[in-house]
Amino acid sequence: MNNQVDSRHRSSKRYTLLTGATGLVGRYLMRDLLLKGHKLAVIVRPTKQQMVRERIEGILQMWEGTLGHRLPRPVLLTGDVTKTNLGLSSQQLNWSEKFLDQVIHGAAVLKFQSASRELEPWKTNLGGTQNVLDFSKRCNIRDFHYISTAYVCGQREATVYENELDVNQTFRNDYEVSKFEAEQLVRDSDCFESKTIYRPAVISGDSRTGYTSTYHGLFLYLRLMAMLVPEQTKNADGVIETPISLPIEGDEPRNVVPVDWVAKTICHLVRTPEAHGRTYHLVPDQCTSAREVIEYCYKYFHSDGVKFCGANSERTADSELAEKLFENTSIYESYETSDPHFDKRNVSRFAGHLECPSIDQEMIFKLIDFGKQNRWGKEKESSPKVVRWIESHLTEIALAAQKMMGALRINGTDRIFKFGLDIHGPGGGQWQLLANEGRFDVTPGLPDDASPVLKLSDIQINDLLMRHDSEEIDRSRTENPKVAINWTEPLETVITENPQPNQ
Ligand SMILES: NC(=O)c1ccc[n+]([C@@H]2O[C@H](COP(=O)([O-])OP(=O)(O)OC[C@H]3O[C@@H](n4cnc5c(N)ncnc54)[C@H](OP(=O)(O)O)[C@@H]3O)[C@@H](O)[C@H]2O)c1
Repeated sequence: MNNQVDSRHRSSKRYTLLTGATGLVGRYLMRDLLLKGHKLAVIVRPTKQQMVRERIEGILQMWEGTLGHRLPRPVLLTGDVTKTNLGLSSQQLNWSEKFLDQVIHGAAVLKFQSASRELEPWKTNLGGTQNVLDFSKRCNIRDFHYISTAYVCGQREATVYENELDVNQTFRNDYEVSKFEAEQLVRDSDCFESKTIYRPAVISGDSRTGYTSTYHGLFLYLRLMAMLVPEQTKNADGVIETPISLPIEGDEPRNVVPVDWVAKTICHLVRTPEAHGRTYHLVPDQCTSAREVIEYCYKYFHSDGVKFCGANSERTADSELAEKLFENTSIYESYETSDPHFDKRNVSRFAGHLECPSIDQEMIFKLIDFGKQNRWGKEKESSPKVVRWIESHLTEIALAAQKMMGALRINGTDRIFKFGLDIHGPGGGQWQLLANEGRFDVTPGLPDDASPVLKLSDIQINDLLMRHDSEEIDRSRTENPKVAINWTEPLETVITENPQPNQ
């Protein structure tokens, strides 16, 4: 008997929770998983300006603009990973326990230094990971995926292998230690069938468009160059002179990977069960050297003048330009002289067909072009445009479905009828509607595979709603005065009083 209950329960547990969906990696991962038809829930915090649904809608509309077609919408959970039970309401928690099967935890704070372990990045990276693990245990999550970083290796210099973590290494900053300790927590947890760990190197923008939503790492250098180089004087040949002495050899490898490849690879590995349970170094096949990056920038800005003085030389500013550059990149100083070799045999074995685009001249040009056009992050993301949030019209949809079922005589007192509503595009979402003896329950998320799913675009559903809006709905309301659907919270389950059949 228990087994029967368990397997029925399990069959409804088909949703994957993604944390960090508004971040750089997360927004690509959300797009790629939705494109593959993955049933996805995201946990997001509101900002001062935008509610959770607007934040996610804005990102998805950006993707729809570039893809040229509509995407499904994930189930939205409002929460914060630094809080117990991720700050979810009791309804959201119940929903999670019932429907979540897999977690991809990517939320983190990329702040390097901290005054105390009570503050960031510890609060989110370590405390948040512990909360996500506790929550996952509570929800009986089977399959856990964690986005770590290649730099949990700290200051190691030789080859780093995917199966290694703690080898008594030293670290450069609190961020590395917080991610190292968080990965340790994930590895030590014993409540999952499998744990898969992704360790990306430094992540740059999109290899095809240059897009980014954050300006850390390589982008910080590119932004500084784009700001400082044009201010310098040109020599007689029209070349901008950038006299800087760098305390590096120039041949130091740079482990940088484009975000679209990182997300595509994680998406593939998440969806490949035989790849689960391993650690993956998401690193380039061939590193770009510091000298190459600088030479590409010379070409872009039509400039020259950087000297490589060797790793043992001093980091002394011999010009105003150098002073500004050093001052603004001091957080990365300890990364400038070395970058280890990361062995990536697990990636080659399970995702070798997804070739990692190298950071070449063309890509550096795209990254700088995007940064300039986006005013290095100052350009405001446009607000989403939504004709109707379908979530606010589920009463009408339920009534219309009820009426139709009445006409088809399928809602007799002993009949239970369940169907899914999968509305793609602006304002859309996924719900399951359960009609049981004349009463409707609406739950976020699609039903299991056996139930029919009504898949419509926002245009189609808006058209239907507009036609129903006027007299039809008014009539249904008066005919069924006791039907009331209470959507005070996004995840409120509908509890309706029984309407009189065939009234
Ligand atoms: N970027 C890199 O170069 C790099 C390299 C290696 C590994 N990684 C790892 O890759 C993952 C993604 O990084 P990213 O570059 O995409 O970072 P990002 O753009 O800064 O995004 C961080 C994400 O985490 C979310 N988040 C932070 N604190 C949260 C909280 N308390 N509750 C809920 N969500 C929270 C953010 O939400 P808000 O939008 O609300 O702030 C955002 O969605 C991280 O685990 C990072 O450590 C990144």
